[in-house]
Amino acid sequence: MSVKTPVQLDHERIRELTERESAKLDERTRASQRMYERARQSLSGGVASSYQSREPWPIYLTTGEGAVVHDTDGNRMWDFHNGFGSMVQGHANPAIVKAVSERMREGTHFAATTEDGVIVAEELKRRWGLDRWRLVNSGSEATVDAIRIARCFTGRGTIMKIFGSYHGHPAPVMVSIGVEYDRIGDRENYASLPYGAGIPAAVTELTIAVPFNDAGAMERRIIRLEAEGRKPACVIMEAAMMNLGVVLPEDGYLEEVRELTRRHGIVLIFDEVKTGLAIAAGGATERFGVRPDMVTLAKTLGGGLPAGAIGGTEEIMRVVEDGTVYQVGTYNGNPLGMAAARASLLEVLTPEAYRHLDALNDRIVSGCQAVIERYNLPGYTVGISAKGCVTFSPTKIVDYETFKANQDVPVTELAWLYNMNRGIFMTPGREEEWTLSVMHTPEAIDAYVAAFDEMARELTA
Ligand SMILES: Cc1ncc(COP(=O)(O)O)c(C=O)c1O
Repeated sequence: MSVKTPVQLDHERIRELTERESAKLDERTRASQRMYERARQSLSGGVASSYQSREPWPIYLTTGEGAVVHDTDGNRMWDFHNGFGSMVQGHANPAIVKAVSERMREGTHFAATTEDGVIVAEELKRRWGLDRWRLVNSGSEATVDAIRIARCFTGRGTIMKIFGSYHGHPAPVMVSIGVEYDRIGDRENYASLPYGAGIPAAVTELTIAVPFNDAGAMERRIIRLEAEGRKPACVIMEAAMMNLGVVLPEDGYLEEVRELTRRHGIVLIFDEVKTGLAIAAGGATERFGVRPDMVTLAKTLGGGLPAGAIGGTEEIMRVVEDGTVYQVGTYNGNPLGMAAARASLLEVLTPEAYRHLDALNDRIVSGCQAVIERYNLPGYTVGISAKGCVTFSPTKIVDYETFKANQDVPVTELAWLYNMNRGIFMTPGREEEWTLSVMHTPEAIDAYVAAFDEMARELTA
């Protein structure tokens, strides 16, 4: 292992390159600029979701096929954004196109369950080893309903999450995410801080955040909450955090969390909206070998259509079956989404597909790591099947505190600009990782590594 001290990045140079690359991207995206001027007259901020906003204007896309997308200016790009990690199947995957087209002709919505919904539940049960499932339309619906089920099952109101983790936009989980570092408070007693406005304090206070990769801190907080008469109903967490780049669980951490939540009678929910179906056939649950009491899925599940799912043990899901909790939704189990999910599970996300993703992961991780070593950059590469990132930090990120303290924001933003100007469509924002698809090729990976190499060379020249 190299023991060289990494170079100190010159922030004046980063600023210069950022200016140059921003101007270049502006030039390449004039049709997006025009679309933005039009869109903002009717769509708030010119976008359908605030996560699609960008200064000075968002990039508007037109088509996607396989591993490639086109923007409204006609730029052709390898897609490493993949719809915030949803399109592990690749765009317009033939198996999904066929299933959805056939379903389209047979009727698209009944608010009655179709056989595809049953097949999807059977396959998820097989992959996750959880007894009972419900079908929803997004990750946010999955997490908010899972929490309500856990609250009903335990008869408690307080919930626990990991500081810095994102679980969608329902108010109970819009707490303690991207907040100012100096407001997070003492590690043993993190503050409950709303993520944006419109969330009543009464809701925020019911959500308690603890640091990732620290089972001791979690248990001590649980014991204190119990003494205050507000023991949590559940711990909702990602087994590997996927919104601070990628932060993997340290050895033994998930096992300890599993053991302590069981001992304290707290429902353990793995939010697998990002990890599920992207890092293994049975998600983080299979990959790390720790089975939670409940699981939430979305993103990759629908293969490009809005679909989500909640899995749970028979005992917990009984509160749904006996009608104590109303787990409902007009579009739940929508036939189009279920046709896509069925084709995706049975025909696309096969063992062979995961072998392909793992091979691509090895190529991108070793390629990026070689660049880091060649130019002696302060950073490292993390990859796990379809997901991964380069983390620009001289020390390992293990939780939100180390992320906030060490992450190099300007260089991460510069990396995004380099990608966009060299035919790599990447998720904007330093917290995001790449998502590979089964239709990515070694050529796509090499293009990503080449863009990174060019940045590293110019940065250190
Ligand atoms: C871990 C996790 N949970 C839940 C969600 C919410 O999913 P959706 O945007 O489909 O509501 C997200 C979205 O990024 C997520 O990353």
